[in-house]
Parts: sequence; C-alpha cells; structure tokens
Amino acid sequence: MHPNQPSSPATTRPEPNRRFSVAPMMDWTDRHYRYFARLITRHALLYTEMVTTGAIIHGDRSRFLGFNPEEHPLALQLGGSNADELGQCAALAEQAGFAEVNLNVGCPSDRVQNNLIGACLMGHPQLVADGVKAMRDACQIPVTVKHRIGINGRDSYAELCDFVGQVHEAGCTTFAVHARIAILEGLSPKENRDVPPLKYDVVHQLKRDFPQLEILLNGGLTDLEVMQQHLQDLDGVMVGREAYHNPYMMAEVDHRFYADDTPPLSRLEIMARMRPYIARHIEQGGVMNHVTRHILGLFQGLPGARHFRRQLSSAIHKTDQPLALYDQLLDDMTLRQQPRDCERQPA
Ligand SMILES: Cc1cc2nc3c(=O)[nH]c(=O)nc-3n(C[C@H](O)[C@H](O)[C@H](O)COP(=O)(O)O)c2cc1C
Repeated sequence: MHPNQPSSPATTRPEPNRRFSVAPMMDWTDRHYRYFARLITRHALLYTEMVTTGAIIHGDRSRFLGFNPEEHPLALQLGGSNADELGQCAALAEQAGFAEVNLNVGCPSDRVQNNLIGACLMGHPQLVADGVKAMRDACQIPVTVKHRIGINGRDSYAELCDFVGQVHEAGCTTFAVHARIAILEGLSPKENRDVPPLKYDVVHQLKRDFPQLEILLNGGLTDLEVMQQHLQDLDGVMVGREAYHNPYMMAEVDHRFYADDTPPLSRLEIMARMRPYIARHIEQGGVMNHVTRHILGLFQGLPGARHFRRQLSSAIHKTDQPLALYDQLLDDMTLRQQPRDCERQPA
C-alpha cells in the first residue's frame, strides 16, 4: 500500500507511484530528455528542471509549464520561498496537468541562495512549511519536497528531524532526500554533488523515525540491485546523473520496480521512435541538437558508442542535413549492433 494512504489527508490526492524517479536536473531533464526517457521506461516518475516561481509568474508560461502528454507521469519542480507565489504556481501546475508539484530545498547554487531558493531553505524550516501549506491549499495534486540531509552549520540529525517534522506538519508526506549535506559557501553546485560524503544510513534512520512518511533516496545511485535493496526499507529511489549519462539502464525499471513485464524497446527502436519527434521539432523551427544532445549515452558500453556520441556531438554541427546524418547513424548503429560472424558461430 502507498505509505501516504492510510492516515494522511492526502488520501484524496491521486499519488503517482514513486518507486523509481528521475531527479530534476537543470538543463538536462527538459521536455526532449523526458520524451526520450519515456520511451525507455513507461512507469518511472519524471521531474522537470527546477522552474522558479518568478519565471512562471512573470515569464513565458507555455515555455515553463508546457510538456508532451506522453511524458506522464510528470512532476513539476518549483524553486521559490514566497508562500503566495508558491501557492499561485502550484495552482498553475495543477491546471497544466502535472501529477505532482515539488519544492526544491536541495540546490546549493549562490544564484538561488540570494533569492532564498534551494538548499539554504533548510535553515528556514518554518518558511518551507508555510510554502508547502500555501501550495497544498492552492491545489489538489500532491505537494512534495526534495532536500538534503543538512547544510553546513545545520547538519545534525536532530535538525534534520526538526525540518522534516515541521514540513510534515504543514501537510507534506513525501520527501526526496539527497543523502549528503550541502556546503553553502566555497563549493560549486557540481562539487556539492560529489564532495560531501553520502550518508544513506541517515535516510534509513529518517524512515525508521517517520515511518508514516514516503521517503525517497537520492544521491550516487547507479546500480539497480543496490536500489532494490534500499527499497526493502525505503519507499522509492530517485536517480539523477546515471539516468542521464547511461539512460538505457532504465530499460529494466518497469520490470524491476513496477512488475511490468512488457519487453522494453531496444536502443535501435528508441532511435527510430525519436526520428519523427526530431523531424517535428525541426519542422517547428527547432534545432536537432537540442533534442539529440540528450541521447548521447544511449549506446553506452556497446560497440559503436563512441561513433554515436561523436556524430551527434560534433559532426552534427558541420552538416546542413541533420536528419540525413541521423538516418545514416541509425543505419551505422544497426550494423554495429549485429553480431559479428565470429560471435554468431562460437568455436
Ligand atoms: C546538471 C544537474 C542539474 C541539477 N539540477 C537540479 C534541479 O534543478 N533541482 C534539484 O532539486 N536538483 C538538481 N540537481 C541535483 C539532482 O537532482 C540530484 O539530487 C543529484 O544529482 C544527486 O543525484 P545523482 O547522484 O543520482 O545524480 C541537478 C543535478 C545535475 C547533475
């Protein structure tokens, strides 16, 4: 049973299944990546890039809230801390058809700290709670929070429990926890994803102390077996970089995490299915590379992976016939994936 269902007022909100999700990643999990990822897994919950409340309220809404229906189930991640604005954006997220709206309390960049967005909010649990309450009051879709296990100066387990407790009281029952602290001064966002050590045991302890909450583990997960082990105690795993750099790892997600035994599409089938999507994008005035930059890792670990990556990352800029290059590449990869003669007839 879904951990939110028995006791919380969230019972009326249909919950997406979060056993496996792809983490929000700026510049990476845009609509093109999500369309591609959805060809690999039908069930994983996908997150948008973080969109600030200011961008939605004052900017081009169709750009920030638009998506292809095929991307579902899909969650919008918001960056912000003003409760009124968060409420407005949660209502807009619901209208736009998102399955969930998530608040970013994990991003450590200076740019966002200046606007009280992201991980610095871990030092302001009441502000996060107020924002979550405003979001819940404004919409009927689930409201979730993604956060770290702490920030420098506020990294004790008691402080983490205080944060989760206050945000839970405001009505949040799902927490995606990046299992390392963020260091708000002196480390770049990239370093903040690698340097502070991962502490999975803290996330497991959190689940033991808040068993009624849905706790998703994030940070450094690459191996599906290991993820399944975590899921013996936790409610979901959220995968970021591995799902981007080695996307075909998600081909096993539906079988392993959602008991769906429909055979996944092969890499070549995925390439072929991306072809009309890319053609449509070009017809609408788009640039092929904006789509294909997300698929560079499709053949990771297989013969021809380097050729594939090179064609799509450098040759693509030297041709005025990008679709012809794509078609040629599909032929090349088809040949390269065929077993060689010596492999067909083992000695
Ligand atoms: C390029 C990039 C952009 C990211 N942008 C966001 C973001 O917009 N919102 C967010 O909450 N986390 C963001 N993150 C952090 C990821 O969601 C995730 O927490 C982190 O990468 C750790 O998970 P992983 O080890 O599975 O990659 C970003 C990470 C990367 C690599």
